[in-house]
Amino acid sequence: MDVSSLNEKFQGVKAEEILEYFINNYKQEAALSSSLGAEDQVLTDMILKLDRNANIFTLDTGRLNPETYNVMDATNLKYNVKLNVFFPKSVDVEKLYETQGINGHFESIQNRKNCCGIRKMEPLKRALKPLKVWITGLRAAQSVTRTDMPVVEFDDNFNVIKVNPLINWSEEDVWKYIKSNNVPYNKLHDEGFPSIGCAPCTRPVKAGEDIRSGRWWWENPEHKECGLHAK
Ligand code: ADX
Repeated sequence: MDVSSLNEKFQGVKAEEILEYFINNYKQEAALSSSLGAEDQVLTDMILKLDRNANIFTLDTGRLNPETYNVMDATNLKYNVKLNVFFPKSVDVEKLYETQGINGHFESIQNRKNCCGIRKMEPLKRALKPLKVWITGLRAAQSVTRTDMPVVEFDDNFNVIKVNPLINWSEEDVWKYIKSNNVPYNKLHDEGFPSIGCAPCTRPVKAGEDIRSGRWWWENPEHKECGLHAK
């Protein structure tokens, strides 16, 4: 089925049913990429209820917060699974350090993109290479860069069908699901972090501030993508 027929098919359909379609049809060739943030924990719960062996991976950039590792562990224990982890290539990280130091990403957008490129983009490319379907926890309300995203799209950058089952969910929907299903969640959310990224590049936001304003907070909203979800 092509992308536009899939979008028609899934109009108004529950996230669980969308996931069921892709997990059943693509099995190990479909995977959720999880940042271990609230949306991805919702999807992890839904997916593992469908299939305990489903493919879920996280990109461990080497600069995650301790709370993020804690929820990874809690998730593995609760569902009796082991999430797949992709690390950056050590030689690339060593070269990055040599050229721009440990916190050089604050110095320019280019430096920041070099860091995201080595720590997130390259591992993501490797993770997606054998896959046909990439499931994400993107929501339209998260950012000005995400308002027009559909449930299903073809991602030309990575050559996969990209599925965003929660694209129309509100933040409230996410938390209702987490509480009523007793889903383990990242404790950073209790400290004012709505969006989970790397420790040096993510800070808490104040009530009423934009959800992703704590990510790469020193940059303009139009630049605030690491490239994972760039057009
Ligand atoms: S990001 O591009 O700015 O980092 P964001 O944190 O909003 O993205 O998360 C959007 C989606 O990107 C997540 O739901 C998840 O599917 C994917 N993602 C983001 N960070 C990671 C990560 N470290 N590992 C795996 N997937 C991630």
